[in-house]
Amino acid sequence: GKTHSHVFNVEEVPRTRLCRTKSIMTVNGQFPGPNLHAHRGDTIVVKVHNHASKNVTIHWHGVKQPRNPWLDGPEFITQCPIKPGASFTYTIILSTEEGTVWWHAHNDFDRATVHGAIVVRPRRGTRYPFPHPFQEFVIMLGEWWNRGANVILEEALSTGGEVNSSDAFTINGRPGDLYPCSSAGTFRMPVEHGKTYLLRVVNAAMSNGLFFSVASHTVVVVGSDGNYVKPLSSDYIMITPGETMDLLLEANQPPDALYYMAGRAFSYLSLGSFPTTATTAIVEYVSDLPLESTKPLLPTLPYYNDTAAATNFSFALRSPANAAHPVDVPKTVDQDMFIAVAINELECPQASCAGPNGTRLRASLNNISFVDPPIDILEAYYAGIGGVFGENFPSMPPYYYNFTATDQPLSLLLPTLGTEVRVLEYGARMEVVFQGTSLVMGDNHPMHLHGYSFYVVGWGYGNFDKKRDPLRYNLQDPPFKNTIGVPINGWVAVRFTANNPGVWFMHCHIERHMIWGMNTVLIVKDGEGPKEKVLPPPRYMPPC
Ligand code: C2O
Ligand code: CU
Repeated sequence: GKTHSHVFNVEEVPRTRLCRTKSIMTVNGQFPGPNLHAHRGDTIVVKVHNHASKNVTIHWHGVKQPRNPWLDGPEFITQCPIKPGASFTYTIILSTEEGTVWWHAHNDFDRATVHGAIVVRPRRGTRYPFPHPFQEFVIMLGEWWNRGANVILEEALSTGGEVNSSDAFTINGRPGDLYPCSSAGTFRMPVEHGKTYLLRVVNAAMSNGLFFSVASHTVVVVGSDGNYVKPLSSDYIMITPGETMDLLLEANQPPDALYYMAGRAFSYLSLGSFPTTATTAIVEYVSDLPLESTKPLLPTLPYYNDTAAATNFSFALRSPANAAHPVDVPKTVDQDMFIAVAINELECPQASCAGPNGTRLRASLNNISFVDPPIDILEAYYAGIGGVFGENFPSMPPYYYNFTATDQPLSLLLPTLGTEVRVLEYGARMEVVFQGTSLVMGDNHPMHLHGYSFYVVGWGYGNFDKKRDPLRYNLQDPPFKNTIGVPINGWVAVRFTANNPGVWFMHCHIERHMIWGMNTVLIVKDGEGPKEKVLPPPRYMPPC
């Protein structure tokens, strides 16, 4: 493969949306940041220079970074932050990814504006498993806060309450013309009638899944999370934070009209606590015909808390499961983990906090609310530095209860704070079941694992039944993903083989849930073979 070199200058620049100007963190002054293009098997080298006044790190979401956790990016997991004035070079090795993955800041709330797509085309000389599109577009879904995203985060952490929601959702950095003061700069996608386009949709939003649709057009999903899927036609998609979806769009509608593509929240917060306006871009046909109307047609999107619409879409995805794209799902399991995913309340150090009943909000996996260590876990693990993390992340919850019942005893709401990881043998065939809970409040939690893709073999509503549910697993053509939304009051089962040694973060991709501690780390030990060991660290790692 080829090597592509890029320079990322991280800098704070003033940007205006919704008639509000504020300073935002950017890469090279761009919001969203630059998209990177490569082929499978290529290497991308990114030199990051931090010209901003605060720390930053960059993560390559969906890139497995085989045996090279040193360059994965999450702060205090695999590296210390890049300080103001410092530089750090990442090497990104595209081994098995093919489709759309992405990059984003992996520290506090910087990823709100520090993100971009990584477009991975097939190996040179090979083709897409679908007719070659006429043209491709990256569609970055994001959010805009009128105030600084990190200011809002700090406020929420100091009061213990909810994080104020953003003021708009965005498509390619633009709220679109249904928002006040936003018509200038609405993203326009020119199309020619009869041609087919590939849309690479990334949900870079911090706080919400999104329903997304193009007026009058059906899309065909052909990929997700850097893996192909069996072509799936749909009038809409649901995309959780962290997910990517590759869509074919055939421009087959009357060219004398304009068509909105629109994204709107999928959320269990009450209406009014998230932007309810749709973010829009405009599909416009290149044509000599005069327009019937200059008002674009709006698509119909599912209602904001339509669980069925969300799960029907998410769990309809299937792997191609053919000779070119085989499925390699473990048929038997060496080790399983059952992880209860919860929002919690913690006692308030002050007189009263802004969380429910005067508490402060936290979140947990198996009742442990993750706390960032003082130095990164990877360094501590390889240098044998003690006292940084524990190896007691439990493979089941401390107690079983009716996870999805709404009235829970208060004693369940209190998590334990800690930095606990789970150590796995190299090559272990793993099953992880994420069990949604309705503690404090239920939600669809997009669980994401670094260093891997996993097969989504099962899901359901209610409590996971270890006897009965595995009988219904799909081991034929499960989709291969790195992020999966655990349905509200439901569960998801994933399987993978632990063959990428290293230190890998696993967390909810709703940013405030991650910051509240809905995280853990899987450490995969080295194997016996020479190709089964973590590579030596680069000569320079940023110091803490
Ligand atoms: Cu895209 Cu750890 O995240
Ligand atoms: Cu979550």
